Amino acid sequence: MRIARTVPLVPSALLLFTLVAPVESEAQTPPPVPADARYKNPGVPVEQRVSDLLSRMTIEEKASMLEGSGWMESTPIERLGIPAIKMADGPMGVRSWAGSSAITSSANPAAKVEATSFPAGITMAATWDAQLVQREGQAIAQEVKALGRDMILGPTVNINRVPLWGRNFEGYGEDPYLTGRLGAAYIRGVQGEGVIPSVKHFAANNEEFERHRIDAHISERALHEIYLPAFRSAVKDAGVWTVMSAYNLVNGAHLAENKPLLHDLLQGEFGFKGFVISDWGSTYSTAPTVNAGMDLEMPGGQRMKDWLATAAVQKSGNSDGWLTADKVLAEIKAGHITEVTLNDNVGRILRVIFMSGIFDHPHTGGGEVDTAEQRAVALRAATEGIVLLRNQDAILPLDSTKIHSIAVIGPNAAVARTGGGGSSLVRPKSAVAPLDGIKERAGSAIKVTYALGVGMEGENPADDTPEARDKSIKEAADAAAQADVAVVVVGRYSKIEGEGFDLKTMDLPAGQDDLIAAVEKANPHTIVVLNTGDPVTMKHDITSASALLDMFYGGEEGGHALAAILFGDANPSGKLPVTLPKRFEDSPAYGHYPGENLKVDYAEGIYVGYRYYDTKNVEPAFPFGYGLSYTKFEYSNLQVAEVAEVGGGAPPGAAFSATFTVKNSGTRVGTEVIQVYIHDFHTKIDRPFHELKGFGRLTLNPGESRLAHFAIGRDALSYWSPEKKDWVANPGAYEVQIGSSSRDIRLRAALKLKP
Ligand code: BGC
Repeated sequence: MRIARTVPLVPSALLLFTLVAPVESEAQTPPPVPADARYKNPGVPVEQRVSDLLSRMTIEEKASMLEGSGWMESTPIERLGIPAIKMADGPMGVRSWAGSSAITSSANPAAKVEATSFPAGITMAATWDAQLVQREGQAIAQEVKALGRDMILGPTVNINRVPLWGRNFEGYGEDPYLTGRLGAAYIRGVQGEGVIPSVKHFAANNEEFERHRIDAHISERALHEIYLPAFRSAVKDAGVWTVMSAYNLVNGAHLAENKPLLHDLLQGEFGFKGFVISDWGSTYSTAPTVNAGMDLEMPGGQRMKDWLATAAVQKSGNSDGWLTADKVLAEIKAGHITEVTLNDNVGRILRVIFMSGIFDHPHTGGGEVDTAEQRAVALRAATEGIVLLRNQDAILPLDSTKIHSIAVIGPNAAVARTGGGGSSLVRPKSAVAPLDGIKERAGSAIKVTYALGVGMEGENPADDTPEARDKSIKEAADAAAQADVAVVVVGRYSKIEGEGFDLKTMDLPAGQDDLIAAVEKANPHTIVVLNTGDPVTMKHDITSASALLDMFYGGEEGGHALAAILFGDANPSGKLPVTLPKRFEDSPAYGHYPGENLKVDYAEGIYVGYRYYDTKNVEPAFPFGYGLSYTKFEYSNLQVAEVAEVGGGAPPGAAFSATFTVKNSGTRVGTEVIQVYIHDFHTKIDRPFHELKGFGRLTLNPGESRLAHFAIGRDALSYWSPEKKDWVANPGAYEVQIGSSSRDIRLRAALKLKP
């Protein structure tokens, strides 16, 4: 019998089966599998099923499981009844699994899969609604099953470090706590349906620039405090079944072979028991990858070979085909990979196959997608995710009894821009553009006109010249002058903001600022709507608009959601999950992006987002957590007490309780997103001015008051100590801050942590 690793870096249950399931190194003819083999029995505990199945597998069969069998399928083993795990891209809904985004974005009918297009991750984050994100995860998982697949490649929990990252729209913004809570909620929703999620991209994938070759140099503290918490929460709070490793390198090693991060931290310290899957074409070696704890290389088989042979893929730096059975077996023979390690890798894949239920109840498909119920979830999310940034003279909500005409203008008005580009862009059966939503809601009593305003940069050559833009801006200004109200929908689209490339600028695409200025001049009642995932530069003309809304990417129901907010059918409740800086030069990563000689130094350390703006007093255009409502909320009477004094009923780990009252002092029903920040009064080490440690949504009728309650654990007071290699909460005085945004702190109270 071989001896397992001496250091217990894997959970004890896993260690158990590695000890009891030794493998012989010579190829043998396996004995037939009896119909009543233990692993086939759903009543047997998962660890025993894994152990039993491993003991029946040949070493060749095990080695074959480390590589995918196609573009989005793992390798099945028919003899033993091990199914292929059938994947689909996400996270904003189910995307085609036919091939790379180049294939699935084409008109090719073979690549076409239709499913509900949910709002982008950044929109979901603007809802600050973990329950809704969980419901979204559940709805997506139901569609995964309806389409006969088993796994959805999401959620994306990478932090918005730089305003120019091409994939910022996929994630949940700049704050690790908000991101962690929402990521965990998504995972719970998906796993609750017996579908496998994959939280991605572990660990710090924060730019698309040279994404296969860039080496992110990040301090231990920034890793633990900013880039890892959402993955930790995925593992510890939601028990996630799979993690996808990122393309890039962190501190000198590609993620797929980054032993300190995968093996020691994710699997060791966090206690992750599921499997690690590579990003598509992100592996660069055999033994170091397997030994680091990277369990499944994707894609695989002939599809992978064909894809890798293409010049574009080679040029971009993809690498794959390292965990093929022949290479893995050769490394075992050479003594570079032990059979114990192989058992560990394969055991992780098998564990997920059993835990998810796909072994016992395969998903055969044939169900309905994009049903009325799913659309309702998408609509609610798109509505809750709209942030009202400015509402001069209470121009909103529009009073349909007083308004007779609306000019709807802009390159994003008549087209539904549902999401950013790349592997996350879902094809819905139909999508509602802002113009459609507004027309439908306006009905016959209000005349709705449309003008393009300016063509979207790079989309249609005929509209994309200075002359064409001047002409259409003039037409738009004329249309605005003749209407009671103008709604200008500007922003970006999937070819300016997407996977595989970063944004060139924070500015709006060509001509859009001029369009806004011309329309405002023609009609003082101008409402500007931002329809984009990444922050945009707020030029002087945007901030002088009567009203400004950020709808981000609203998925297929974005147009209905916008109309509901404009007409006051819904009261805005979204809050910014990311700071909107005045200009790119103000952002903390400026000067440390995209890096030089394929290295990017995360020199701003822990000062990401509001942690930077609020500590260094750099005024943003709009702060983190900001968002207006059509009603008003008053905060009062904050009481902070030690849980020991308050008595029972507190959740485990709670050290303090904070209670306060929120009142709706306006005239409409509304929902306020309340935010709890912690400020360290006595810190001797470098710490941000404050950090978000709690949030919730309170819906109140006019005049209604409610008590809000938060539990504050020691973890909320802690920082990562590189010396102690642990989270540390120093005894002393802290301040609990209750805010309506990070810069609008309404209540403060001190708390004292005893030694
Ligand atoms: C992306 C992943 C995606 C995978 C499969 C990669 O290019 O980075 O997020 O899941 O492709 O499409």
